[in-house]
Amino acid sequence: MSNAAVFPSAIIPMMILVTGGTGFVGRALIRQLVSAGYHVRTLIRPSPRTPRLPRGVPVEVAVTGLSDIRGLRAALREVDIVIHLAGSESQGARATLLDTDVRGTRNLAQVAAEAGVRHFLFLSHLDADRASAFPVLKAKGIAEEYIRRSGVPYTIFRSAIVFGPGDHFTTALAHLLRLAPGIFPLPNGGKTLLQPLWIEDLTACFLWALEEPTAINQTYEIGGSERFTLREVVEILLSVTRRRRLLVSLPLPLLRAFVMVVETFFPSIPASTLWLDYLAVNRTCPIDTLPRVIGLMPARFAYRLDYLIPKPWYLRLRDALIVQGRKARHSFRTAWQKMRKQE
Ligand SMILES: NC(=O)c1ccc[n+]([C@@H]2O[C@H](COP(=O)([O-])OP(=O)(O)OC[C@H]3O[C@@H](n4cnc5c(N)ncnc54)[C@H](OP(=O)(O)O)[C@@H]3O)[C@@H](O)[C@H]2O)c1
Repeated sequence: MSNAAVFPSAIIPMMILVTGGTGFVGRALIRQLVSAGYHVRTLIRPSPRTPRLPRGVPVEVAVTGLSDIRGLRAALREVDIVIHLAGSESQGARATLLDTDVRGTRNLAQVAAEAGVRHFLFLSHLDADRASAFPVLKAKGIAEEYIRRSGVPYTIFRSAIVFGPGDHFTTALAHLLRLAPGIFPLPNGGKTLLQPLWIEDLTACFLWALEEPTAINQTYEIGGSERFTLREVVEILLSVTRRRRLLVSLPLPLLRAFVMVVETFFPSIPASTLWLDYLAVNRTCPIDTLPRVIGLMPARFAYRLDYLIPKPWYLRLRDALIVQGRKARHSFRTAWQKMRKQE
């Protein structure tokens, strides 16, 4: 398919299906897409929980699982573009990499091809490889292959670790640092190199790819403009959150065994063995990709961490009251609707 066919007249706003729209990246991206004038439909899986969609942003919702082919067909009706962000790795011990990340992507790519989707964008990891020994990177490598083979024009971003409000990296680390009793273990001395990417720079990459014909059938490795060891990252977070912890080196296998035990009993802890995999080897890419390809200078890491600064007690109390108020309103509304139905 020629690139001209992929980028039709801009007069009719394009319909974009975003999977994973309730996640950290999805929520930020949907906001940007809607403010850029795209029509957005988000796919959410059936669940009794209230979906965490971005507030005050008009989006259509399609409720279906990634294994439900008929549901996917319905979700893709009139869709021009798919941005696939659904993934299970942040669920740690409960992650369903094979079902969600691998088979789910295969199903979605297949149905997207049948439905004549013009562009399929996917968020993968640096070092994704179907032969990787790390489960998440292997799953992403296989998922990428399904997308490339589907025949749908694609753009894949292999991203470094992303940071921003509600992320699974700095927020999780800051939380662990808060819980740590005076000392904090670093896998192998925290020597792994990371290249954190600011969430808004990532969303800018997606918006760029939607408008850029040369992005078709390309895989980009993207990351921030600075590289830090994990130890440096932790030191920056300690300084931002005004805490002191003694950083001690722990051999990775020992830390892994410890995390395995802890995640068995507390599956929702913000660290998992999948997370440790990510920190096992350097996760970097060329520093100049974003300025060179996209014309964007990535944000500096230490300048964007204000969302981690602890709030004074009265602001936390205010926020807690707002959340409780919302929950009470929701329960009241549900009970009221039930009562009306019974009448
Ligand atoms: N964050 C990063 O640093 C980073 C870097 C590179 C690549 N990635 C990839 O980018 C994607 C998004 O990352 P994220 O940080 O936004 O992850 P996240 O916060 O964990 O969000 C994951 C999203 O996937 C959805 N999901 C999970 N299992 C699903 C299923 N079986 N069916 C349908 N939806 C399902 C979740 O829905 P629920 O709300 O229902 O759970 C959620 O909306 C992931 O695939 C991740 O591997 C992330």
